[in-house]
Amino acid sequence: MGKVLLVLYSAGQHAKDEEKLLGCIENELGIRQWIESQGHELVTTSDKDGENSDLDKHIVDAEVVITTPFHPGYITRERIAKAKKLKICVTAGVGSDHVDLNAANERGIAVLEVTGSNVQSVAEHVVMTILVLVRNFVPAHEQVMAGGWDVAAVAKDSYDVEGKVVGTVGIGRIGQRVLQRLKPFGVKEMLYFDYQGLPKDVEQELGARRVDTLEEMLGQCDIVTINCPLHESTKGLFNKELISKMKKGAWLVNTARGAICVEEDVAEALKSGQLRGYGGDVWNPQPAPKSHPWRSMRNKYGAGNAMTPHISGTCLDAQIRYAEGTKNILDEYFSGRNNYRPQDVIVINGDYATKAYGQRK
Ligand code: NAI
Repeated sequence: MGKVLLVLYSAGQHAKDEEKLLGCIENELGIRQWIESQGHELVTTSDKDGENSDLDKHIVDAEVVITTPFHPGYITRERIAKAKKLKICVTAGVGSDHVDLNAANERGIAVLEVTGSNVQSVAEHVVMTILVLVRNFVPAHEQVMAGGWDVAAVAKDSYDVEGKVVGTVGIGRIGQRVLQRLKPFGVKEMLYFDYQGLPKDVEQELGARRVDTLEEMLGQCDIVTINCPLHESTKGLFNKELISKMKKGAWLVNTARGAICVEEDVAEALKSGQLRGYGGDVWNPQPAPKSHPWRSMRNKYGAGNAMTPHISGTCLDAQIRYAEGTKNILDEYFSGRNNYRPQDVIVINGDYATKAYGQRK
């Protein structure tokens, strides 16, 4: 019998409002009964930060840790050193950058995620964020809710998506879905930068053109969407210097990971007008501190901010998919078959699977 530690956000009353809200401590991905029926102990908590957190207390003798990117239990090198019995970390969702993968490899701890489980959800959120920013929806909505009526105040910073050049950094599952959904808007051109090209027929059907360097792509785009994983070479990628290579007044949308962008540099670019807008739902760390500059940053018109908490990949439809995928991974592990879907494996047996490097598999 092993201990399974499940780290999820707490939902309180919301869990009572909606029983389909599986991804919270109250509903435990719907897997408590099943885990116990397999003879294992389940400990669930949302208390994950600080030295005396439940996560720190229970990781010491946990065999399995399950967490999500929405309320990530950061499985650092220090925590792995304490976790003498830990064999497998499962991400209920996509993106396992909250685990120190090198430290996991040194100990032979496997890391898996539910690849594909929420890619459609994120792609929809990206398209929504692009529309919200380009059309300047947020200030317009805030204005009417506050009883106001000032059309010009909104119109002076509002545009069409039609006719704009859009580029994606990463053309994996999400990147492709974003472009598919944007095509009917009549955008002028769709570009992508990725170190893996798409097959020519897929590229043609999508109507996308590959650009050889990131800088070259950024210089042409009115709208940029980031859809690559966070790893050593994407951490802090969008800093002051790279943002200066973008077209002046472009919109930037990041639903990949907060740490891909340098927070102060983004806020500064919005203030200076180098960026017209920034939106997305990912922050570093999560939950974001009250003082995080992305909570309050604005452009010179007092607009241009379309941030939300990390919600894009955790709508109710997505929760069903990542809960089921998590159970399937655990089933393979508990049964000893270890016959995982190859695309779910990040690291195993002390080595990186190709996905850890952001390869599409
Ligand atoms: P994917 O593995 O299907 O595609 C990732 C693509 O990024 C691959 O084509 C890869 O070659 C490319 N890539 C890697 N490094 C790159 C670099 N330095 N420059 C350009 N391209 C690079 O992954 P998927 O499913 O599309 O997800 C992408 C990321 O989105 C995840 O790693 C995760 O961080 C984030 N995500 C966010 C969610 C949310 O709720 N906001 C939910 C799901 C994923």
